[in-house]
Amino acid sequence: MRHLISIKDLTDKEFETLVDRAEHYKKIFKAGDASEIQKNHLKLLGKTVALIFSKRSTRTRISTEGAVAFFGAQPMFLGKDDIQLGVNESFYDTTKVVSSMVSCIFARVNRHSEIQDLAAHSSVPIINALCDMYHPLQAICDLLTIKEKLDYTENKLKLAWVGDANNVMNDTAIACLKLGIDVAIATPPGIEADASIVDAALAITERNGTKITLTHDSVEAVTDADIIVTDTFVSMGEEFAKVAKLKQFEGFQVNSELCSHAKPNFKFMHCLPRHTGDVSDEVFYGEHSIVFEEAENRLYAAMAAVDVFVINKGDFEAIP
Ligand code: CP
Ligand code: NVA
Repeated sequence: MRHLISIKDLTDKEFETLVDRAEHYKKIFKAGDASEIQKNHLKLLGKTVALIFSKRSTRTRISTEGAVAFFGAQPMFLGKDDIQLGVNESFYDTTKVVSSMVSCIFARVNRHSEIQDLAAHSSVPIINALCDMYHPLQAICDLLTIKEKLDYTENKLKLAWVGDANNVMNDTAIACLKLGIDVAIATPPGIEADASIVDAALAITERNGTKITLTHDSVEAVTDADIIVTDTFVSMGEEFAKVAKLKQFEGFQVNSELCSHAKPNFKFMHCLPRHTGDVSDEVFYGEHSIVFEEAENRLYAAMAAVDVFVINKGDFEAIP
């Protein structure tokens, strides 16, 4: 049995397969042919999938519930106030019980170790729906979006990340490098990419000749970029440190002046939710922004994850 914990755990080919599956399901979903869906895709009919979410979510919850429904299963959203977890029941007991009754668990947790605990004790696949270190569903979605808009299979691209160095950045950087996209990461002084991510990134660059740049200079990162990406400067669970973090990120807002250093037809991406501190309205709602197409692609990324890890039980060889 395989779990989806991080893009780091997948081979380059496996990750590419997930992005291609997302593209495939987008076509089927958009065609809207109910008889085709009924005939070929209700492979989880009569089953259930649990969503154990200890944090808020718009995109991940909706895309996951939608993907599960597409394959005929019933999603069960289990927010932190809905189940006994953490109040009357341990993580271990909850994992044993929930996994005995469902086909898969999507989990949004605080620490990465919680996802690892779930994976260690679950009898069904665990799909990481965000932890402090990784956000693999976002990375599948983002690479699908980049493929559609700029086609990394045909063009040599550079992605500039300007912002924090945590979950979304970690999987985005690894995902891009795996598929041949150069990555430049600009973080404020005092915020460095995790050593395990840097090691994984360097191993990929040595293997496939892509480039990773780590800098504290956002102009350097953005110069000649095809894609500029940021994320909130204050992640969920860090609200207590909001004032200090916003101070640390002064000068890191993605705005028109910063974007003027990118390629003329650059695209702007953001996983959302977004705050005006991370990116100006002019850029976020501007002609280069593809944030809402990106958000929609979360649905197809979730479909790909269900297809590969639940229906095909992580057997990538079985995927056409
Ligand atoms: N991008 C993303 O994961 O959004 P939600 O927190 O709304 O799920
Ligand atoms: N870095 C953000 C991502 C939200 C999808 C957070 O952890 O809150």
